[in-house]
Amino acid sequence: MKVALVVGTRPEVIKMSSLMLECQRQGIDFFVLHSNQHYSPDMDAIFFEELNLPAPKYNLNVGSGTHSNQTGNILIKIEPIFEDERPDVVLVQGDTNTVLSAALAAAKLNIPVGHVEAGLRSYDRTMPEETNRIVTDHLSEFLFAVTSTQEEILLGEGKDCKKIDVVGNTVVDALIENIEIAKEKSTILADSEISSKGYFLVTAHRSSNVDNQSSLEELFSLINGVLGTYTEDILWPVHPRAMKNIKKFNIEIPGRLKLIEPVGYLDFLHLQNNAKLILTDSGGIQEEACALKVPCVTLRENTERPETVDVGASILVGRDKTKCLDAMELLLSRKADWKNPFGDGSTARQILEILRSRL
Ligand code: UD1
Ligand code: UDP
Repeated sequence: MKVALVVGTRPEVIKMSSLMLECQRQGIDFFVLHSNQHYSPDMDAIFFEELNLPAPKYNLNVGSGTHSNQTGNILIKIEPIFEDERPDVVLVQGDTNTVLSAALAAAKLNIPVGHVEAGLRSYDRTMPEETNRIVTDHLSEFLFAVTSTQEEILLGEGKDCKKIDVVGNTVVDALIENIEIAKEKSTILADSEISSKGYFLVTAHRSSNVDNQSSLEELFSLINGVLGTYTEDILWPVHPRAMKNIKKFNIEIPGRLKLIEPVGYLDFLHLQNNAKLILTDSGGIQEEACALKVPCVTLRENTERPETVDVGASILVGRDKTKCLDAMELLLSRKADWKNPFGDGSTARQILEILRSRL
């Protein structure tokens, strides 16, 4: 069995890491193909180094661009590689433009696609990721659903039950593999002059939150509301999309909000584990906060990860300051004793076992 593992962005590298390492451990014939949708060292190379991942055999160097430009460039560059390599399966993870392009190129060459994190739906078609998820699921022969929620969604969309397997999320594989290492190695709390459970952690990079001036100002008003209500400082490792717009719109940064560059995975796990509460619009961070039992205010109107809300780990607030403060009060008053719904760290092993038995 020859497996192609496609990555393009920060979360894909992290969430595909257990598949790369498990393929190595099991001696499976595989190669990593990187679109380089993300390319800044702190959004890309740092994760290969920290997680001891094999270097990509192919690097498409597509970089940033508009949606169609990026998607089209990946399609054009990936086709000859798939034709030449002829893998038995192409595995993609999540909902980025890289995922859509790789799945489409493989499907057109009649190479089976396996979608890791299949069946997620926000039901918000203004979100670029929603289109990518839907199309990728429809192109895939292997639908690796995270929980029974996605299985039901996929069945409801008419997918063949033989294509669907509920396997958890590789985000937990990576977390379990690295959380103790993070505790040992990370010096981020001291470096950022913060103490365990003495700060709130923020991230935001969704187009709906950061690309437009009034939305970004609303987000900062929410942050000011939090700073005005609580004595804790806020730490925000800023995604390049958000930083570009903070600068472009000349946003005023409040005193107790510390903006830092994006940090590595070990530092970020440590920051999450020690935060009093997390405020985020990130998909992966909603899951990690839930698995780490740190309460999470989700800066979204909807989520394709409803499990986090259902177990009581997260509350959706959009950019509404009042809703956010109410949610924080509630989340901080209740015990973080929910069960992690995203699996037990065996997702990569399950996926490879399924592929071995069916290919
Ligand atoms: C992409 C994904 C999103 C995912 C996110 C993870 C799509 C449509 N979006 O969004 O689903 O949640 O990655 O972080 O695929 N930039 C850099 N350095 C980099 C990468 C980007 O400076 O290494 C800047 C560029 O100005 C670029 C902007 O960030 O234009 C946005 O990058 P892009 O990859 O288009 O989208 P993300 O917002 O990162
Ligand atoms: N992450 C990181 N450093 C940071 C911010 C996030 O390593 O400064 C990790 C985080 O632990 C999670 C992933 O990046 O595994 C989430 O990526 P992101 O929020 O960019 O994308 P999304 O999950 O929303 O697609």
